Amino acid sequence: MIICYCFQVTKEEIESRIANGETLAGIRATTGLGYGCGGCASLAERAWGVESASEAANGSSPRAVGVKIFP
Ligand code: FES
Repeated sequence: MIICYCFQVTKEEIESRIANGETLAGIRATTGLGYGCGGCASLAERAWGVESASEAANGSSPRAVGVKIFP
């Protein structure tokens, strides 16, 4: 599934790179994700962005509660 149409970045690529320890910022820097029209930036940040310390501590981060933004 393509997340970033401007740079043809897929959900699978992002998730694979996150699983291998890359950060969203690093992925953005190397793929251009979010730097074209910007339409995908907020969705990518919500799905794979850095969770705040308070979210991590109280279990309310998107990852902790299993929020599924993309199909
Ligand atoms: S869709 Fe990602 S920058 Fe345009």
